[in-house]
Amino acid sequence: MEKWAKLQALQTATANRHILDLFDEARAAEFSVSADGMLFDYSKTNIDSATRAALVELAEASGVAEKRAAMFAGDRINLTEGRAVLHVALRAGEDASIIVNGKYVLPEVSRIRSACYDFATAVRDGSFVGQGGKITDVVNIGIGGSDLGPAMATLALSPYHDGPRVHFVSNVDGAHIHDTLKGLNPETTLIIVASKTFTTIETMTNADTAKRWMAAKVANPATQFAAVSTASEKTLAYGIDPTRVFGFEDWVGGRYSVWGPIGLSLMIAIGPAAFDQFLAGARAMDQHFLTAPFTQNMPVMLALVGLWHNQLCGHATRAVLPYDQRLARLPAYLQQLEMESNGKRVALDGSDLATHSGPVVWGEPGTNGQHAFYQLIHQGTRVIPCEFLVARRGHEADLAHQHLLLVANCLAQAEALLRGRSLDEARAIQAQKGLMGDALELQARHRVFPGNRPSTVLAYDRLTPFVLGQILALYEHRVFVEGAILGLNSYDQWGVELGKELAVALQPVLEGTAGTKGKDGSTAALVAFLRV
Ligand code: F6P
Repeated sequence: MEKWAKLQALQTATANRHILDLFDEARAAEFSVSADGMLFDYSKTNIDSATRAALVELAEASGVAEKRAAMFAGDRINLTEGRAVLHVALRAGEDASIIVNGKYVLPEVSRIRSACYDFATAVRDGSFVGQGGKITDVVNIGIGGSDLGPAMATLALSPYHDGPRVHFVSNVDGAHIHDTLKGLNPETTLIIVASKTFTTIETMTNADTAKRWMAAKVANPATQFAAVSTASEKTLAYGIDPTRVFGFEDWVGGRYSVWGPIGLSLMIAIGPAAFDQFLAGARAMDQHFLTAPFTQNMPVMLALVGLWHNQLCGHATRAVLPYDQRLARLPAYLQQLEMESNGKRVALDGSDLATHSGPVVWGEPGTNGQHAFYQLIHQGTRVIPCEFLVARRGHEADLAHQHLLLVANCLAQAEALLRGRSLDEARAIQAQKGLMGDALELQARHRVFPGNRPSTVLAYDRLTPFVLGQILALYEHRVFVEGAILGLNSYDQWGVELGKELAVALQPVLEGTAGTKGKDGSTAALVAFLRV
């Protein structure tokens, strides 16, 4: 707590200064970190050398290095579920060696990856066929971590697609599966049921619907089903041939699972070679995370900047703003990654958390967001730290002029947040337009930008599979570091359970086979309104 108190004092002492005043010739270089061609610039924040030193001391005192070693070694750091946390094993190099429960886990990881690659290749080259011949469409049915990772990454890597079309269904709302299956040919469609537990109600309901849809045209629909799950007995009971079931261990959390079989739909879309590059990017970030000193360590510094803004400055949300249209689903993916991991109110030992939990994460790609919610980011009364992401180059060589415009907009937004526009500057602009007196003053006041609003930029060359792997591993480790410093368990998710239980109990109430006794008045009245 002494470290927190020191930081709080630094925050109070520096709260009113202008970030712009911190800039000298060295600041941009000194307050940025690079890793394998990627640059993280946090110089446009109110962090100075003293604050950074105190943040790093906090990380050291919180045992981040020791906890990191424990995670990579396969210790059961997910205490409430008694599990190791080893998504890093899914992308570990040939020379690594990780033991869980006295067993080397990498040979099995690599065996399952090969099985997934073989199946993906067979679907892509037509050696696996549906009743109507070569597979034209793949539908991944999953939710949360069994959907967001592959859905986000498949969109992100669309320039690398050379396999069949891939679709994603997650919502239990029948509209989702209806609209997805509409127009697909059941005879040339492969359904992948992706569910770690194979019990999730949304996924199993959608899988049943897909099975019925397929049964209308395909003699034995189960032959066009594959599954990704840790529950092999359940997939067998569902009728899916074990040769098309790809398992993984309980030490891979749902929101950390895109690197393994849960990435099957992505493997089918981009092929094993590109998927290998995706893993290589993540592995490079793992190595960087393991070896770089804290001040030069991108995940550590990204986490510390986040803690500074949320826990110390009191900014409760952070906006993730990719200037990269294909990262449109990244904010949603990060919402699960960060909010399901660090949205906890108690520490590992069950005591109340001494600080706030992780922040609200939200965002949309630029430039779209600029024409929607940036108004509040620039002139609203709350400060929202912004995290921009931008590539040096796009994939569309013939549209380089559009990419330049995109980059200019990204940098301009960060600059505007930093610099702002003072009342005097606004007055001068209105005076130039010929306004005077009260009219000038009124118009000028509406045009003031307070500025001094923090932002960071994550810059990379191009959104390749390698770079996407780096970005996702960076955010995974950021979540780890934030959780380690807050002292909570980033790897369970008990907060999703209560709603699930109540939904099950409400089904008979809505069907009319059970009454509303014991329900609060609002729920009972809504049931009465919504019951068909
Ligand atoms: O309800 C939350 C959750 O358990 C997530 O953590 C998980 O990613 C998602 O549901 C889906 O779970 P499953 O893969 O077991 O269907």
